[in-house]
Amino acid sequence: MANVVVIGTQWGDEGKGKVVDLLSAHAKRIVRFQGGNNAGHTLVVHGERFIFHLIPSGILYPDTRCLIGNGVVVDPEVLLEEIKELVDRGIAISPEKLGLSERAHLIMPYHKAIDIAREKAKGDSKIGTTGRGIGPCYEDKVARVGIRAVDLTELDILKEKIRANLGEKNFYLTNLFGCEPLEYQSILEEYLSLSHELSPFIVDVSMELDEAMRRKENILFEGAQGTHLDVDHGTYPFVTSSNPVAATACIGAGIGPKGLGSIVGIVKAYTTRVGSGPFVSELTDDAGNYLQERGQEFGATTGRRRRCGWLDLVAVGYSVRINGINHLAITKLDVLTGLDPINLCIAYEYQGRRLESVPAKLSALYNCNPVYEEIDGWKEDISGARAFEELPKNVQTYVRRIEEFVGVPVSIISVGSGREDTIFCKNPFDDTTA
Ligand code: GDP
Ligand code: IMO
Ligand code: MG
Repeated sequence: MANVVVIGTQWGDEGKGKVVDLLSAHAKRIVRFQGGNNAGHTLVVHGERFIFHLIPSGILYPDTRCLIGNGVVVDPEVLLEEIKELVDRGIAISPEKLGLSERAHLIMPYHKAIDIAREKAKGDSKIGTTGRGIGPCYEDKVARVGIRAVDLTELDILKEKIRANLGEKNFYLTNLFGCEPLEYQSILEEYLSLSHELSPFIVDVSMELDEAMRRKENILFEGAQGTHLDVDHGTYPFVTSSNPVAATACIGAGIGPKGLGSIVGIVKAYTTRVGSGPFVSELTDDAGNYLQERGQEFGATTGRRRRCGWLDLVAVGYSVRINGINHLAITKLDVLTGLDPINLCIAYEYQGRRLESVPAKLSALYNCNPVYEEIDGWKEDISGARAFEELPKNVQTYVRRIEEFVGVPVSIISVGSGREDTIFCKNPFDDTTA
């Protein structure tokens, strides 16, 4: 038995979905543990593209069971829509296949309204959120006024909670932002109808995982976002409202810390970021456009153009430390083909000093300059490579330099968006002690 956690080491969109799909071949249960439908995880299987926002990326295998843990904030309408889309594509989703934690908090219409109104009011200083109500939902969870999946099964409580919350939220929305108030009756009717459809999926995820671990089944935990979007460890306040780090797999799914085996850090071969915030190795020149176009760097959730830059090893090294990463998966290596030379950011320079880690002070981070190491590029098409030895020498040098810099071996190399476009060096399920 082994449990594997997959997390992003950058600002999200590293290719977690593809890697989770790949590793799901070795797992019985796949669990999302934080974030919500701000995530957009893309898989390409037999040429068909799927984008998941809430459903774990292991759903396409016939024998897996997917779980949405208590740490996830769930927009019920989006979840049902995602289920429906899969059913329409011939993938049966029943309560045997998918479970939702009774303790997961629900995104309500007022969360989305507040998210959007606040961003609008902030103007140029906006965070650039996905507008999905993620932050306001987590705020209510911590303020102890949130509505949980279990409340869908107790309608009196649901009604009372919606009424109490709406009074406060409408006051805030109308008086501070000049928005129209939301209507109690229409929210109630919507959620009553959603509750009928969702109730059969609601389970005790923690208990189920405990039983699975006793049976020595492999469990795969799927992180969303990335370490530098973490509310504690990321580029605060330009972060999301959850902790996308590996330790959250325990809290957000309901297992103890000893239950985690391998931690797989996904590293995109360059850096991208959606939304506002500092980005030391950002490129605003032709090389940046090349990465954006060749990498098809548009948000899987909002369709926004992603900002692009060179691989920032200071940021990745920081993530290795925060997450305890013992396996790396490098993705989108094929996108770098044709760029020569390629730069790797190996330190920051701030006011004449060399920094080896990401400073907490935002004003410092904004004024850091990247210290680059140049690596020779390559022109060969690498998308057909299926073994490390098949990669051109310069690609091998690039990969080895990343390993050496952060001190963690590369177990998976992705050279295309398809499931098969992968070099599998080591299986994290077999090697939890690396
Ligand atoms: P996630 O949020 O971390 O799951 O990543 P996204 O799905 O938002 O973004 C990754 C994008 O890159 C998706 O469109 C994937 O299909 C694509 N992708 C993943 N791995 C590779 C790769 O190795 N090469 C190329 N060219 N595309 C990839
Ligand atoms: P996946 O799982 C990339 C970013 C938003 C914004 C900030 C806060 O696909 O990697 P939020 O709506 O969470 O309050 O927005 O976080 N963000 C992501 N960026 N990938 C994601 O998820 C993201 N989820 C949130 O763009 O900058
Ligand atoms: Mg994404």
